[in-house]
Amino acid sequence: MVILAAGQGTRMRSRTPKVLHDLCGRPLVAWPVAAAREAGASKVIVVDSPERVLEGHLPEGVEIAVQPEADGTAGALAAAAGLVQPGEPVVVLSGDVPLVSAAAIAALVAGHEEAGAAATVATAELEDPSGYGRVVRAADGSLEKIVETKNPGDATDGELAIREVNSGIYVFDPDALAAALPQVGSDNAQGERYLPDVLPAIAAAGGKVAVVLSEDPNLLLGVNDRVALARVREVARAMIVERLMLAGADIVDPASTVIDVGVELGEDAVVEPFSVLSGDTVVGSGSRIGPGTTLAGVKVGEDASILRSHLADCEVGDGASVGPFSHVRPGTVIGAGAKVGAFVELKNAEIGEGAKVPHLSYVGDADVGAGANLGAGTITANYDGTSKHRTVFGERVHGGVHVSYVAPVQLGDDVWTAAGTVVTEDVPDGSLAIGRERQLNKEGYDERKRNGKGDR
Ligand code: UD1
Ligand code: CA
Repeated sequence: MVILAAGQGTRMRSRTPKVLHDLCGRPLVAWPVAAAREAGASKVIVVDSPERVLEGHLPEGVEIAVQPEADGTAGALAAAAGLVQPGEPVVVLSGDVPLVSAAAIAALVAGHEEAGAAATVATAELEDPSGYGRVVRAADGSLEKIVETKNPGDATDGELAIREVNSGIYVFDPDALAAALPQVGSDNAQGERYLPDVLPAIAAAGGKVAVVLSEDPNLLLGVNDRVALARVREVARAMIVERLMLAGADIVDPASTVIDVGVELGEDAVVEPFSVLSGDTVVGSGSRIGPGTTLAGVKVGEDASILRSHLADCEVGDGASVGPFSHVRPGTVIGAGAKVGAFVELKNAEIGEGAKVPHLSYVGDADVGAGANLGAGTITANYDGTSKHRTVFGERVHGGVHVSYVAPVQLGDDVWTAAGTVVTEDVPDGSLAIGRERQLNKEGYDERKRNGKGDR
């Protein structure tokens, strides 16, 4: 299968090539690649521009064909001709038509073979066909030609009124394609070689051209500008949440919930409104996410709860609870049954089973032993201006409030730290660490001050 994806996509008005724009966690071009693979493609070829901008953005095993100059979609397909599997029908997808499904591809190929067609094109009827090539049919219903509408000049007013559009998805007999492709010229409004012009050429050579009208036009939506991208995203989001809900997750308000295509949710997982789940986030069964929570690349166990918090590239164990208003940064592993409370920032920290960091703390580059409980205002001083150092808390440490731990420093098991202590030295098992100025009460101070006798 060949996926046409060269060219900048000027209508996006972007520094990023069009087909690399993100759609629900994957670049646009990766969607048809995934569909082609799922439909059983033995080989997937993506047509790129000479700068090879797609390199490194495509899944393993996908081949890149380079179109030497952006001379149109016919030129793009010609660039891939040398790489296609000999003897097999050539399936052509568009890098900017992302929602095409494996089932739709398989049905198109089956229809093509059943009909004994030399070429088959998938079409759709759209409420708003603007920007698409229109399908002009002959009196007997067969395809006469496709007229382009991106630039004025190719289509008549009558043709512009047609609502049936070319999806940009085709199946070709390889020999018929090879014979007709060189005949496609560039005498048109854009001065480009239009791939749809190969269809009348194949018909003229005696080949049968079949047209398959899609029942789900949403699957053939193309992305040429950011308005279309938003429309496609809306459809993709609905597809994603529907699949997850049918698999047993409770997404309370799909309209305010954004979930990437790679996210997995267990049965009875609940996602409350205004939550964003991205990357390869996995949420175990019975866990409750949100409202107002972002999980980016987070593994959440079962029956955990994460309320109004932001977490990235970290793990949350079974039955653990996080939030509200916590920031959990990469490399953190929160153990089973642990509690991370309000206004807590964790970075590259291991929070042991059942341990608690309940309030207003920064714990970075630290190991917190099982069952430890760190008081409000715990701060690890992990950075000396040059390098990061680790703080290690043993099991069942009782951390006082407002305690700083100046790393590198180690506290044994069952250690206590007194409120306001600055811990700079290791603490042996079972000890109390207390390190602060003694308090001094200056009696009669207020009266002396009022009588102008100084402030001592
Ligand atoms: C194309 C079709 C149009 C159809 C629409 C469906 C042509 C001439 N027109 O129009 O009939 O309704 O798709 O979405 O084919 N590309 C290359 N090399 C090029 C030009 C384009 O690889 O030289 C790639 C693009 O990256 C894109 C795809 O081909 O993924 C389609 O090109 P685009 O310019 O978007 O064509 P449309 O005007 O949308
Ligand atoms: Ca397009």
